[in-house]
Amino acid sequence: MQPVFRDQTGLVKPGRCDFAPNPTGTVKKLSIFVAKGGTGKTTTAVNLSAGLAERGKRVVLVDADPQGCVSSYFNIEPTGGLAELLLGEQIKLVRLRNNFVVMTSGGTRLWDVSGKLNQFPDRFKQVSKAFVRLRDCDYIIFDCAPSFDVLTYNVLYYAENVLIPVSMDYLSALSAVETVNAIRNFKGSGNCSVLGILPTFYDKRTRMSRIILRMIKDHFGELVTETIIRTNTQINEAPSSGSTIFEHASYSYGAADYLNLIDEMEARL
Ligand SMILES: Nc1ncnc2c1ncn2[C@@H]1O[C@H](COP(=O)(O)OP(=O)(O)OP(=O)(O)O)[C@@H](O)[C@H]1O
Ligand SMILES: [Mg+2]
Repeated sequence: MQPVFRDQTGLVKPGRCDFAPNPTGTVKKLSIFVAKGGTGKTTTAVNLSAGLAERGKRVVLVDADPQGCVSSYFNIEPTGGLAELLLGEQIKLVRLRNNFVVMTSGGTRLWDVSGKLNQFPDRFKQVSKAFVRLRDCDYIIFDCAPSFDVLTYNVLYYAENVLIPVSMDYLSALSAVETVNAIRNFKGSGNCSVLGILPTFYDKRTRMSRIILRMIKDHFGELVTETIIRTNTQINEAPSSGSTIFEHASYSYGAADYLNLIDEMEARL
């Protein structure tokens, strides 16, 4: 069956996003991933996508996590999304804001679909195949689950760039090292390169934040982004009203940090 992209109101063109055609045809792709839970992946994926869209970039945010946290963030049904696309079924893209649409995960169905990917000889290329006709946008950003499974490798293979959020604790820093090593050593991940290591949950009052930041800078050098996302109550509050940090508290330092990240990602991508 032909994949069909819909928005909330109905059918859009088969196999296409509902944006106007991209004249340059170049789509920038980015996955947000680290094999450690709770480091700010979803928060980063949401605010980076929303901020790029506010700047006039046409953004598709894909929830590649069966937990469906992007759907929870915006209070939308996680159906008709990535799971269905991989199964060749009809899907709907949910238009959230101007220039900003979401492909939901498909909910827990994505667990089953992910397991089935191993049956294919080219099991790491199934997301690439499914996305081949999604071109009418400027950015495709993937929010990944915190696990190295076949679905994550599919996303890394397709997106080619990965941003790794590291919260300021020892286990998170270790996970980042393991994640980078695994990506570099895994032949099936194609040309995937690490675009940046993003420090998150930074609190300058704590010695641990300063130690971990030093540690990851010593280890990763220039891969560590200049942007540091500080621990910020407003960032934590924003999902409860389905708002991005820019809508919830545009003058917060959480918003300022994510604006810095957008500048840096636009420059690095
Ligand atoms: N900079 C921040 N300051 C305060 N709270 C934050 C910050 N970033 C994220 N949070 C909060 O921390 C929690 C975990 O963040 P998030 O869901 O983005 O992590 P995650 O890496 O996607 O987790 P998972 O691995 O489970 O998918 C959320 O409640 C979020 O609102
Ligand atoms: Mg998440």
